[in-house]
Amino acid sequence: MIFSPKFFALAASAITSVSASCGHIYTGEVLGSVEVAGFNYTETGGPLNWYGLNSTANNLCAKGKHQSPIVLDKRTGFLEDNSKLVMKVPKTDGGRMENIGDVIQVKTNGTLSFEGLNYTLSQFHFHTPSEHRIEEEYSPMEMHWVYQTPNKDTAVVAFMFELNPYGYNPEVVDNIFHNLGGASEPGNYTKTEELEFDYFIDHLMHNPIYYYTGSLTTPPCTEGIKWLVSQIPLPLNVCTYNAVKRVLKYNARYTQNALGEENLLSLAASELNGH
Ligand SMILES: *[C@@H]1O[C@H](CO)[C@@H](O)[C@H](O)[C@H]1NC(C)=O
Ligand SMILES: *[C@@H]1O[C@H](CO)[C@@H](O)[C@H](O)[C@H]1NC(C)=O
Ligand SMILES: *[C@@H]1O[C@H](CO)[C@@H](O)[C@H](O)[C@H]1NC(C)=O
Ligand SMILES: *[C@@H]1O[C@H](CO)[C@@H](O)[C@H](O)[C@H]1NC(C)=O
Ligand SMILES: *[C@@H]1O[C@H](CO)[C@@H](O)[C@H](O)[C@H]1NC(C)=O
Ligand SMILES: [Zn+2]
Repeated sequence: MIFSPKFFALAASAITSVSASCGHIYTGEVLGSVEVAGFNYTETGGPLNWYGLNSTANNLCAKGKHQSPIVLDKRTGFLEDNSKLVMKVPKTDGGRMENIGDVIQVKTNGTLSFEGLNYTLSQFHFHTPSEHRIEEEYSPMEMHWVYQTPNKDTAVVAFMFELNPYGYNPEVVDNIFHNLGGASEPGNYTKTEELEFDYFIDHLMHNPIYYYTGSLTTPPCTEGIKWLVSQIPLPLNVCTYNAVKRVLKYNARYTQNALGEENLLSLAASELNGH
């Protein structure tokens, strides 16, 4: 492939953190403590045993038939008209970034209007690797924007990330993680840099969006969650990816059975019992 000088000028100006080594990026101050989740992704704390941690609260994790994440492919519909989705996230001088053990989440203001409901942004957070897979392919990182109505109707807008060969990071992604060091331990929180979110919203509006109804990907695995997953991944710098992965480690639930089919754990249990 041949790139014009104009392309290189553009690429160079877009790179916000250029360095041969990853250097001392993503430091930050711990500002206080938050409560951590009672589940994780390891051994008996992991997704195969979330039901076992509390079979009343987490019943759907092992028995629900519309569980997330899933493999997104030709069977999954796309949203027909992206303009039916109105996501507004105002610029902030800093959101609260919390390490609650299972994820790193950022709390800031935002709204979503979709199918006649007005949702409020609860938080956005990250998974490494991705939870959904697009045509079977996973991504190194997935971002979830969790929206709720006062009646607890929930919608999640998701973005996938793909490592960028030119070391490019969207500026907002750099600013989200700039103070990651202040939330590197479960139970710590810090504040992000100034954040301006148009980059995500523009991408969402201008690319196909998978749309299906599934569940929370963490306990209690509540169903009836509207998933809106942007199909085309966003770019991610390798240094950022490594820094985030070092904190999140592994926090992806395995992909669930096809929508409407028996829960894989129920199926496995009956097979083990010889039924
Ligand atoms: C940050 O987390 C560590 C490890 O859990 C804890 O010892 C420390 O007290 C936390 N710092 C604050 C300010 O909460
Ligand atoms: C995960 O949770 C289980 C069960 O609570 C616990 O035994 C284990 O130490 C936890 N592991 C990690 C890495 O947090
Ligand atoms: C299990 O979940 C139920 C329902 O959410 C709750 O009332 C109960 O206290 C939980 N049990 C334990 C042992 O945490
Ligand atoms: C959210 O909006 C309120 C009211 O305008 C404002 O005081 C607060 O600072 C905003 N939060 C963030 C994280 O920007
Ligand atoms: C959602 O917000 C719009 C604009 O503020 C308003 O016109 C509409 O009535 C709201 N819908 C619901 C269901 O609250
Ligand atoms: Zn999530």
